[in-house]
Amino acid sequence: MPKFNDLDLNNWKDLDVWTDSLWIINERDKSGKHDGFYHGNFVPQIPRQLILRYTKKGEIVFDPFVGSGTTAYEAEILGRNFIGVSGNIVF
Ligand SMILES: C[S@@+](CC[C@H](N)C(=O)[O-])C[C@H]1O[C@@H](n2cnc3c(N)ncnc32)[C@H](O)[C@@H]1O
Repeated sequence: MPKFNDLDLNNWKDLDVWTDSLWIINERDKSGKHDGFYHGNFVPQIPRQLILRYTKKGEIVFDPFVGSGTTAYEAEILGRNFIGVSGNIVF
């Protein structure tokens, strides 16, 4: 079976990946560049979980609705490259 991520599933209990079927996020992560200035942003924990699950380090994450860049910041933290589109701006 192809590997979609860098996770070692033999140690799944120690990973920073949520395995519950319901994600309860009490507070937005405001660390680093995540200052939350844009009212339409989502919590960084959501793209973080998805990037960890579905990409490997060095791969490209594409967000066609990048907004204030929450996904871009998470991609950077996790060692992924990033392409984002917001309206007619590509960065
Ligand atoms: C709710 S924001 C995304 C917020 C982002 N997840 C964040 O955390 O900052 C939606 C973004 O999608 C862009 N957008 C909406 N419709 C679009 C379209 N049809 N084509 C390209 N961009 C679009 C908007 O300009 C906006 O930047």
